[in-house]
Amino acid sequence: MLRRMKVSLGRSLQRVGSSFQSVGRILRGVGGILLNSGNAKHELITRLQRKLVTRRSRKTSAALTLAGFWETQALPRAYPPEGEVVGDDSLYAQPPSKVPRLEDCRFYHVMEIPGYGLMQGDWDLRQGIDDYLGHAPLAGRRVLEIGPASGFLTFEMEKRGAHVVAVEVPDDYGWDFVPYPASFMETIYGPRREEQRAVKNSFWFGHAAHQSKAKLWYGDVYNLPEALGRFDIAVMGSVLLHCHSPLKIVEQCAMRAGALVITDLFNPDLAGEPVCRLVPTRENRLWDTWWSFSPEFFVQFLEVLGFVNTKVTTHVQYASENPSTLFTVVASI
Ligand SMILES: C[S@@+](CC[C@H](N)C(=O)[O-])C[C@H]1O[C@@H](n2cnc3c(N)ncnc32)[C@H](O)[C@@H]1O
Repeated sequence: MLRRMKVSLGRSLQRVGSSFQSVGRILRGVGGILLNSGNAKHELITRLQRKLVTRRSRKTSAALTLAGFWETQALPRAYPPEGEVVGDDSLYAQPPSKVPRLEDCRFYHVMEIPGYGLMQGDWDLRQGIDDYLGHAPLAGRRVLEIGPASGFLTFEMEKRGAHVVAVEVPDDYGWDFVPYPASFMETIYGPRREEQRAVKNSFWFGHAAHQSKAKLWYGDVYNLPEALGRFDIAVMGSVLLHCHSPLKIVEQCAMRAGALVITDLFNPDLAGEPVCRLVPTRENRLWDTWWSFSPEFFVQFLEVLGFVNTKVTTHVQYASENPSTLFTVVASI
């Protein structure tokens, strides 16, 4: 998660840096410098940068690109048929008997919690949520969601009529940690466990406030149990970069769903080739992130799996108010 923030912030700063020049030119062009205060100037430039990015993303709207895609896909009917129960309910985590206290929550997503207002988090996907989800037809669909974090996608998908089963790492496993020397990793595990616990609390906090019916299965994402049943759509949002064997997860989802949505950070230098790049080095100590991907990396593998209908879009999302480009690959059989 931290890495995802760092990578996107770094990239955003570069972009903001180059846009400073053009925004600066615009400001000079309209009659000189209006603002003397560094902070105010920065704020205005950031706002202009956001406007420019928003305008650009509107033009290349993922919605337009995907408008025809889903209509032409013969997705099987929703699983389960209305009213039918899939799997033994004991498979899933029970919501905590007492809703976690707000002060024990850490929100990964900026999200509105009914009765409590807006929670601040690392990623604000509110404006671009449909692009993020590949405009998948969610109404009445059974959706498998890998890695919900605070559950913003979960609850948004429910709002759109989906029946969501989310898969999250159990406490005793924690993460696909990059195996740096134990002396270093031992300084990570404790604080990380605390953070993960607080993010899980935020999921259950939102679950209660939204009166969500979403199910959560804590377990090994590389071995999803048959008992989870079949899904119409599986969503892998910004999770594969954190996993040592991302293609194994795609394969697991492909075995259970008729359509897939994969969203991850867009790396312009990789785009066009079916490649991924190892992120951790001896020096950078990025213990929580394994890969940078190109969209074509997934497209090619999805075709191997028989998901031959694919579409790639890019869109802008916000991390701590900084714009960041992501890609979404949608695929169906
Ligand atoms: C960066 S967050 C993304 C949250 C959300 N899917 C989104 O797109 O905004 C990554 C999520 O994936 C989960 N995750 C990371 N490794 C995982 C694994 N091996 N198995 C299941 N979930 C994992 C994390 O706990 C977290 O919930």
